[in-house]
Amino acid sequence: MPPRLRIDRHGIIVENTHYKLGYQFLRGDLKSMTIHHVSNYAEMCRKAANMISAQILLNPTCTLGLATGSTPIGIYERLADAYNKSDLDFSGITTFNLDEYCGLSENDPQGYYYYMNEQLFNKVNIDRAKAHVPNGTAGDIALECRRYEALITAAGGIDLQLLGIGNNGHIGFNEPSSAFEKDTHCVELDEETIIANARFFDNPDDVPRRAITMGIGTIMQAKKILLVANGEKKKEILQKALYGPITPMVPASILQLHPDLTVIWSDT
Ligand code: PGA
Repeated sequence: MPPRLRIDRHGIIVENTHYKLGYQFLRGDLKSMTIHHVSNYAEMCRKAANMISAQILLNPTCTLGLATGSTPIGIYERLADAYNKSDLDFSGITTFNLDEYCGLSENDPQGYYYYMNEQLFNKVNIDRAKAHVPNGTAGDIALECRRYEALITAAGGIDLQLLGIGNNGHIGFNEPSSAFEKDTHCVELDEETIIANARFFDNPDDVPRRAITMGIGTIMQAKKILLVANGEKKKEILQKALYGPITPMVPASILQLHPDLTVIWSDT
């Protein structure tokens, strides 16, 4: 049953709730999403890396939104491989990562700037001045959120946003909540997210409790979105996100309203 929704110039009305996200991202017609169901993780990564490569080849000065977590690791591996073996050139692109833990510096092995260095930036010819990750150690986090949002706007927005999905339906660190947060903001992480991400830390108590994340509006304004997910444990939440009611309790469900969404789903 498709969600009952109505769109006007002030926002989206879904099942009688009015989400004021601004209307910029609502330009253009709603299109149906494209779902690629593939059989394994390697195939998912290959397809996603091909789409990102195509984006860079078609527009060498494009702006990419990047994700962290375990899902994109193989995608970055293939992009680095394509850089070495073909003429894929990262020097003109600009990137914005979705999120960063509060309190972790660029040099912290658990932080997302470090992750990006390890997984991609150190392996390709990206211009570091144009590779952005929120600063989790900023003295004034609210100011950092505004700075980050303004930087994305100044870059002309995101051409292609890569997204994973959390077990609880989060995108970036937009956790289930009573409202969709529009812009880059600071969040208290869900207990479920803290538990899920504890695997990356020596001690689960070290998982930061707060993070900076792009907002739902920031993500939805990307011209294209590429959502990747793999494994049985993501199946149910992906189904809810793509076919269930659009609700801030399943933040990824808002993606149903994006005009250009591609999903690559792999069973394993
Ligand atoms: P994962 O995380 O890739 O480590 O499963 C995805 C996410 O939380 O967005």
